Amino acid sequence: MKTITTLDTLFLSAPDVAGIVRRKGVKACLIGIADNIHADFLRWESFDKSARVAAHSSVGVIELMPIADDQTFAFKYVNGHPNNTRFALPTVMAFGVLADVATGVPRLLSELTLSTALRTAAMSALGARTLARKSSRCMALIGNGAQSEFQALAFQHLVGIRELRLFDTDLAATAKLVHNLRSSGLAIRVCSNTAEAVRGADIVTTVTADKRNAVIISPEMIEPGMHVNGVGGDCPGKTELHADVLRGASVFVEYEPQTRIEGEIQQLPADFPVTELWQVLAGNRAGRTGDAQVTVFDSVGFALEDYAVLRFMRDAALELGVGQRLELIPELADPKDLFASLAEQPQRGTHDRSRVDLEVRTQGSPRVAAAKAVGAERDTTPA
Ligand SMILES: NC(=O)c1ccc[n+]([C@@H]2O[C@H](COP(=O)([O-])OP(=O)(O)OC[C@H]3O[C@@H](n4cnc5c(N)ncnc54)[C@H](O)[C@@H]3O)[C@@H](O)[C@H]2O)c1
Repeated sequence: MKTITTLDTLFLSAPDVAGIVRRKGVKACLIGIADNIHADFLRWESFDKSARVAAHSSVGVIELMPIADDQTFAFKYVNGHPNNTRFALPTVMAFGVLADVATGVPRLLSELTLSTALRTAAMSALGARTLARKSSRCMALIGNGAQSEFQALAFQHLVGIRELRLFDTDLAATAKLVHNLRSSGLAIRVCSNTAEAVRGADIVTTVTADKRNAVIISPEMIEPGMHVNGVGGDCPGKTELHADVLRGASVFVEYEPQTRIEGEIQQLPADFPVTELWQVLAGNRAGRTGDAQVTVFDSVGFALEDYAVLRFMRDAALELGVGQRLELIPELADPKDLFASLAEQPQRGTHDRSRVDLEVRTQGSPRVAAAKAVGAERDTTPA
């Protein structure tokens, strides 16, 4: 007898993931995802890393973001099209996969649009928790679009922010953000320009979308001790901070080879000193060394954060029994006879499918829940 691991893939749709977040709560999700990112960043050396592959056009970018350790491969498909909102489409849309390194079988296919907003916010807050002054309570939030609620809530729950100063060139976006945060407990002030929002803030988050070298934050806006969380500059030719803001600060990045291409530091020479955040988390390098120091987290979004959020959503789906079994790969009696799959198949449920094993590393009740969610469990077939 030999055990056959089936080809079943767990599919998490956008409504599935929204349902998971509703049931667990945004706060618990942000904390759980930040914990996963932290844990994975501490395993930095275990991952096969590369800068993402990007297809640029005059209106946007489409990117693939792969990463793997010795057990699990992950990738994300993501776009960035700042004009999309004019056509009632999101600027950023994404989906992703977890696959077994041992066999290449795709185990999870999940939405990553909502998940990206959650993981980006969790990453930003993890960066600020590590780099900002511990006394930080007030944040300026420039750019009040799709990512902004998640940024606000992550900084509230993970960093201790109590007051927000908002600015967006689109008044309707700010009104939407104020409405969505109405029961958050955050004190909110709507400002009439970026300088007003930034004045006196402990932390400045920029999360604007514009496909150009914009100057959202200029040097005269910076005050001693500020932490700048630059999220929107994440592509060649797409930045938010004046280069002198970077020159006057200690700059921290996710994965240096990718940030050199895509981050704010693309404006500076290749030898401009930066520190990868994982080095600070691991205690290898210093983060903030004084209250007057200006720190910048030059965020572009790294594949390891998507690996971390995919793990989180997979585990939550297994725990809650959410998701559907997807027949993504043909199941063959003879793996060399792909041609046989062209023959008409019996209806689903009448043919012999082998063991449902969506999550080989998850133990106990979650796995049982997953098995229930996607079908019965069988094993073994004659050798
Ligand atoms: N670093 C990361 O990991 C990461 C992850 C996701 C998104 N992003 C980036 O974050 C940005 C925001 O994404 P989103 O999904 O919220 O986009 P969005 O289009 O929903 O919102 C962007 C907002 O920025 C505002 N804006 C544009 N120019 C501005 C300016 N000069 N001053 C003030 N506001 C301005 C727009 O009016 C809009 O409301 C995008 O550039 C995206 O590529 C980065």
